[in-house]
Amino acid sequence: MIALTLAEVAQVTGGSIVAPPGVDPASVVVDGPVATDSRECGPGGLYVARVGEHADGHDFVAGAVDRGAAAALVARPVEGVACVVVDDTQDAFAALAREVLRRLPGLAVVGITGSSGKTSTKDLLGTVLATAGPTVAPVGSYNSEVGVPLTVCRVTSDTRFLVVEMGARGIGHIAYLARMAPPGIGVVLNVGTAHVGEFGSREAIATAKSELVVALPPGGLAVLNADDAAVRAMAAVTTARVVLVGEAEDAEVRATDVVLDGGGRPSFTVHTPHGSRAVQLGLVGRHHVGNALAALAVATELGMSLESVCVALESALPVSRWRMEVVERPDGVTLVNDAYNANPDSMRAALTALERMGEGRRTWAVLGTMLELGDESDALHAEVGAEVVARGVDELLVVGPAAAALAAGARAASPASSRTGTRVREVTDADDAAVLLDAELAAGDVVLFKSSRDAGLRLLGDRLAGPREELT
Ligand SMILES: Nc1ncnc2c1ncn2[C@@H]1O[C@H](COP(=O)(O)OP(=O)(O)O)[C@@H](O)[C@H]1O
Ligand SMILES: [Mg+2]
Repeated sequence: MIALTLAEVAQVTGGSIVAPPGVDPASVVVDGPVATDSRECGPGGLYVARVGEHADGHDFVAGAVDRGAAAALVARPVEGVACVVVDDTQDAFAALAREVLRRLPGLAVVGITGSSGKTSTKDLLGTVLATAGPTVAPVGSYNSEVGVPLTVCRVTSDTRFLVVEMGARGIGHIAYLARMAPPGIGVVLNVGTAHVGEFGSREAIATAKSELVVALPPGGLAVLNADDAAVRAMAAVTTARVVLVGEAEDAEVRATDVVLDGGGRPSFTVHTPHGSRAVQLGLVGRHHVGNALAALAVATELGMSLESVCVALESALPVSRWRMEVVERPDGVTLVNDAYNANPDSMRAALTALERMGEGRRTWAVLGTMLELGDESDALHAEVGAEVVARGVDELLVVGPAAAALAAGARAASPASSRTGTRVREVTDADDAAVLLDAELAAGDVVLFKSSRDAGLRLLGDRLAGPREELT
């Protein structure tokens, strides 16, 4: 983080300083990592104690200090530690993030939201911008009221670009995030059905996502997906300039001639006000075309040339784990681990890639539950089951009883007379899936793993992939 004295942290957060005897608060400077997990603390850092459902962060202050934290932001003083004591550490953390950005007026802040693809697009944009200047776009999915201030507090006085992923589980969430990290550029990728159970309706999801572009200043830029009617409609609620990106004819940044190669990697021609260029991505899945267009619109707005953006896009590889992570096993089996998360839209995107990668090969979809779909859950699982059949997947393995509707949907969609259709099998958990796959996988097979936050499925994909040096 940029350097702040303990007194400044107290002032910004409205807190009071409680320091051990002999420690002069004026001499305590926070300039190291800001963390809510004591294990991520380091010299000169600030530990933020949160009280969660399962644990009370105040219990870990000592561990944070052992790792070098200079101070802690707390709701009650901890003996022997330089503390800033506040009423609510969440509010205080938000205020701290806001202040960090207020002190860096030259920093370009980009907010990214959408139902699917936030992390992928953040990673892609982070990779591109990093070729132009110091960029903060942390690996992983830091998109909540905790993740966003953690992201913000990573900036230093050298940082030029900050890419912030913003997620929502309800109305007002993104407005809150945008107040603590006010973006100059906002990207809305899509309005899907992720978390529809919590939102109540797709309209409510659209309203929630639109809060990002509502928050943009008049001199800002809204990058909107031209191919999603609900996103396109957000042009009406922002005072910022709008750039439409997508495959629609009127998109200002537009892709044509999209083709997936045998590895599922898209190529396309991009047309922009700065010219046109052929682009070949190294990432797997057609959905990355839209993500790349969004990244391109942002990066050119921030002064990069079309050519340098395209060169960076073409060299981009997966950054955050378990998102269309492809491993070619020595025995000829291809594994696609996309088990970080799942909703109906990203299931479709992954199945499209599987179909392309599996041409002339046997394809497997090892699918688990999609969480938080509310009343529509069974119907949406059944639709994905039908999609599996429509994509010509040979072997469907449905993992976990909660996903039974997916298997039922696939069976219902399979023509009874077909001998070449999808074989549908259900297993209880990832361990059972492992036994079956170990017994049956054969050279040439392509296997997709996908589920909502099912660590078992992710690890199954990892285990089948075998040890890989580049991953830690
Ligand atoms: N633009 C997109 N449209 C649909 N699915 C996408 C898109 N981008 C990525 N995905 C898929 O969605 C899933 C989640 O991707 P991720 O980037 O982690 O999204 P988020 O951060 O929004 O949850 C992955 O399985 C990925 O393959
Ligand atoms: Mg994410």
